[in-house]
Amino acid sequence: MTAGSAQKTVSPVPHKREDLIKSILDLKKERNAIILAHFYQDDEIQEIADFIGDSLELSRKAASTTADVIVFCGVHFMAETAKILNPKKIVLIPDHDAGCSLADECPADKFKSFLNKYPNHFVVSYINCTAEVKAQSDLICTSSNAVKLIAKIPKEKEIIFAPDRNLARWVQEQTGRKLTIWDGSCIVHETFSEEALLKLKLKYPDAKVIAHPECLPNLLDHSDFIGSTSQLLNFSSQTEFERFIILTEPGILHQMKIRNPAKEFIEVPGIDGCSCNACPYMRLNTLEKLLRCLHSMSPRVEIKEATRLKALEPIKLMLEMSD
Ligand code: 13P
Ligand code: SF4
Repeated sequence: MTAGSAQKTVSPVPHKREDLIKSILDLKKERNAIILAHFYQDDEIQEIADFIGDSLELSRKAASTTADVIVFCGVHFMAETAKILNPKKIVLIPDHDAGCSLADECPADKFKSFLNKYPNHFVVSYINCTAEVKAQSDLICTSSNAVKLIAKIPKEKEIIFAPDRNLARWVQEQTGRKLTIWDGSCIVHETFSEEALLKLKLKYPDAKVIAHPECLPNLLDHSDFIGSTSQLLNFSSQTEFERFIILTEPGILHQMKIRNPAKEFIEVPGIDGCSCNACPYMRLNTLEKLLRCLHSMSPRVEIKEATRLKALEPIKLMLEMSD
């Protein structure tokens, strides 16, 4: 059967985990599909994925895959980026509601009015935004290449940076470039408690604090290393340190523990002690929904062609500039 053939009716989801996993793998093969997953997915989704990565690595993988179908176990802007790069492929996302607070806080019409106030600015958007916002941007960046890319923009250019104010402030600090910043944030990375972090640092003075740049500046100030999810994973694997306090979504701990079974990884709780450091959008995807989407070949990610073509340019530029 080929990827585009008639949709199957949804068969019952097996109760046993091993049967569920076998059904997904069989159907994946039948559809000639690839499963891409972000590090914030549940462990069992990471286990079944063909490729796990940060936003930049996932974009690169989406750009190079020969599969007919991309099942994107991540959030909507990531699946949308895969579709922008692969208009002819079917891109599925197990739960269509897997959004992102950063993308939600930057609606395309308001962004357009914002840009009108700053004519002649070079517009850099963090990949965590909608296709419509990408289509209004000159360059896309991710947390792994934002500093490098901003540093490459000619000094005389004035720059708009959207939609994450925390990443923007950190990039500003690292590059010395003044940025005009859109006021958005990640609801997950802004929940970490500084008080809890300081208590953990006192308890484990040898631990290295490693943080995602979406965290608030007061948390980043206490960090020994700041980077994208993959960069945090690499730092924890490639350095000699044995204990780490992690300031990002705890999904990343799964790969950290697999790659470093003898090392210790400590989560930081949210401000009121809650476990709201888990991304509520990422965690909407489940194995059951993954099977259903491969059966029904939906939900699919679709983008208007005019928007896609405009959004493709700044993504292509990012991929070229970050080589
Ligand atoms: P990374 O690109 O670092 O994986 O970040 C994606 C993201 O959504 C972080 O919240
Ligand atoms: Fe968006 Fe934050 Fe979730 Fe990342 S962790 S997908 S930035 S809401």
